Amino acid sequence: MASKLSLIVAVVVVVFAASPALAADLVVGGSQGWSLNVDYGEWVDGNEFIVNDTLVFKYAKGQHSVVQATKAGFTACSEANSLAVWNSGDDTVLLNTSGQWWFFSGVGTDCAQGMKFTVTVIPIVKLSSSSPPPRGPSGVGGMAPAIAAAAVAAAALLF
Ligand SMILES: *[C@@H]1O[C@H](CO)[C@@H](O)[C@H](O)[C@H]1NC(C)=O
Ligand SMILES: *[C@@H]1O[C@H](CO)[C@@H](O)[C@H](O)[C@H]1NC(C)=O
Repeated sequence: MASKLSLIVAVVVVVFAASPALAADLVVGGSQGWSLNVDYGEWVDGNEFIVNDTLVFKYAKGQHSVVQATKAGFTACSEANSLAVWNSGDDTVLLNTSGQWWFFSGVGTDCAQGMKFTVTVIPIVKLSSSSPPPRGPSGVGGMAPAIAAAAVAAAALLF
């Protein structure tokens, strides 16, 4: 009884501790979800993965699964030394460490047919204690005003 209660308390504490961290829920494959005939390389390239973000795998239960693999298991499409397996059809995977993570579907020939991808999870870069890091594609837009200001300054020196 006591251990069950402390588990519930621990879960509640974790949920509240995690909420201020602006972590994102990323639905794998976007609107196409976790299925065959989706270019997951393209999906990965269009996203950014930061520590404590969550991957959400959506699929019809039983048709696919989610295997978190080692690099070797991923390459071989082998579940033998998998780190974790999910199969509810609505699986959430907390990316709680930085570095590379490998996933594939362990059902039938899914993996051989391309239901696999790897992501590199980056640590949060703190710009200051109060402002959260910018998300999504950024940098180019932010650079432009600085370049323009430098150009104006350079022009002022010439005349
Ligand atoms: C991830 O979440 C845990 C639990 O809330 C927290 O202790 C940790 O500092 C977070 N990591 C980052 C990089 O935000
Ligand atoms: C990340 O989550 C896994 C699975 O819940 C857990 O075993 C592991 O200890 C966690 N790692 C860190 C650094 O919190």
